Amino acid sequence: MANEQDIRERVSRDYTLAVTSESGCCCGSSKVAQKGVVSRLAGYGAEELAALPAEAVVNSFGCGNPLAFSEVRAGQVVLDLGSGAGIDVLLAGKKVGSQGRAIGIDMTEAMLAKARENIAASGLANVEVRRGTIEHLPVENSSVDWVISNCVINLSPEKPRVFAEIARVLKPGGRMLVSDIVAEDLPEWMRNHPRLYSSCVAGAINEQEYLAGLRAAGLIDAEVRDRLVYDATQLTAFITSELQDAVSCGDSGALPELGREQMEPLVGKIYSALIAARKPSFKS
Ligand SMILES: C[S@@+](CC[C@H](N)C(=O)[O-])C[C@H]1O[C@@H](n2cnc3c(N)ncnc32)[C@H](O)[C@@H]1O
Repeated sequence: MANEQDIRERVSRDYTLAVTSESGCCCGSSKVAQKGVVSRLAGYGAEELAALPAEAVVNSFGCGNPLAFSEVRAGQVVLDLGSGAGIDVLLAGKKVGSQGRAIGIDMTEAMLAKARENIAASGLANVEVRRGTIEHLPVENSSVDWVISNCVINLSPEKPRVFAEIARVLKPGGRMLVSDIVAEDLPEWMRNHPRLYSSCVAGAINEQEYLAGLRAAGLIDAEVRDRLVYDATQLTAFITSELQDAVSCGDSGALPELGREQMEPLVGKIYSALIAARKPSFKS
């Protein structure tokens, strides 16, 4: 079993490839031709996408649109964990307006560089990205109104630390709303497949573990608000393309037989969930 730092380095390498070349084996898409499809499937409106720099949209690797379901208001501070090329942190910047702030955190230099280009292209002066890990956020205690995240926490090898960091940086009464892949009863070969980690499958935990982790960190009102369940065709396309890339990358051995028959039992077991929680207003 690789240690936490090795896992983060591998994930970061894969996302560097994803944003700088035509390959890379990542969440929601592994081929440039599929980029953009991911964001549409994730539930963004055509109008909100058209108002963003195109490079933020084609380089999105999310599995939902957490901000769309939030009640973020003008003047608030929003923190986006694993902000990637910036799609959600830019949308947050628009929502909070010039009196508010949107801050993205990412550990991958190439993603940060792309996000900075996109922030400059958007002209938004209230948006910034910082280099750091979501397990050790470079953010002050009790300083943000909202934590959002899109398909990132599943990639952390230290999820309890991430949940504790969310609780630390939220203001009392502040809220978390994240879209993430959750998974149950994954076959052992999927759990252990190195390429399926970066693609947001192998590291995913189930809903109960997620909610229990948030509660253990001191957050309240933890709940699953919505589920985006992939059908067998979507799952097959997604997982097969990841594994084919892995084989062409030469690092993952033989490609298992994967057709509808193998995928059908996984429908409803690997899906995107919209998860909410809140920091208590006062210490009891
Ligand atoms: C699946 S992509 C999602 C990017 C973005 N949220 C979006 O919707 O397009 C995952 C992003 O999280 C970053 N990431 C993964 N694990 C991380 C960690 N432990 N700390 C900081 N960033 C991380 C990756 O570098 C990558 O940019």
